[in-house]
Amino acid sequence: MSFDSDIHSLASRLKAARRLTVLTGAGISAASGIPTFRGPDGLSRNFRAEQLATPEAFARDPKTVWEWYDWRRQIIARAKPNRAHEVLAVWSRRLPDVTVVTQNVDGLHERAGTKGVVRFHGSIWELSCSNACGREAWSDDRVPLPELPPRCPGCSGLARPGVVWFGEAINLDILARSRRALDCDVCLVVGTSSVVYPAAALAAEAVERGAFVAEINPEPGASGVDLAIAGKAEEVLDRVESLLSPSIPP
Ligand code: APR
Repeated sequence: MSFDSDIHSLASRLKAARRLTVLTGAGISAASGIPTFRGPDGLSRNFRAEQLATPEAFARDPKTVWEWYDWRRQIIARAKPNRAHEVLAVWSRRLPDVTVVTQNVDGLHERAGTKGVVRFHGSIWELSCSNACGREAWSDDRVPLPELPPRCPGCSGLARPGVVWFGEAINLDILARSRRALDCDVCLVVGTSSVVYPAAALAAEAVERGAFVAEINPEPGASGVDLAIAGKAEEVLDRVESLLSPSIPP
């Protein structure tokens, strides 16, 4: 099928859909200037996330780990949601039941005004106490952070970023909410290399549950999907929306 007919077939599926679930990864924020992890211009050119985003790396050298997160926070703070984020925000207000399960910790879906965002890997704007002193996790959007590593306001112990590190479990409520959302009419897989589990298993589960699953990625790679559109999220979602958007704005 051609690119155009793929766009039309996705639009007609979405027109008939009541429940839409969108699984997003770093690729959806690429057009906002946030480097992906494993792409050619990705973070992995200089750092392997697997080396820095682990409890072991933090225990070994919390300052270096925080320097990396503080650097990423500064990039994200300067970034703006792009057309892909905007279209999903419109759909989350227009369609009756939309869930966006994102692996991204950047908060750009929320900044675009998207409803129903599930932060599968947490948020880079949240901190928690690495001593688990009982202090609730807190938000801190100061860039740069005045002190590296930052401290827990409760026990003055080391604070850690509110993100899920390699080797750590996904919050059980988050996992349950994400899996419940796979009972949907259409599931879009946008901008993820589908190599990090358990997030990478969600698309296959959506297929099993009978959803129409479409991938949007310049280099599609998710297995078993019904439709793979080789394109950039900001362009493909914009094209689909141009076919969906009612003549009178909602
Ligand atoms: N539109 C859509 N997809 C894009 C775009 C774009 N404009 N630009 C790049 N991509 C695709 C790439 O082809 C690649 O498949 O986005 C994907 C990004 O893959 P990764 O960098 O591996 O990011 P992601 O899949 O989100 O990583 C998963 O790994 O490091 C951890 O916790 C981190 O959440 C992250 C997880």
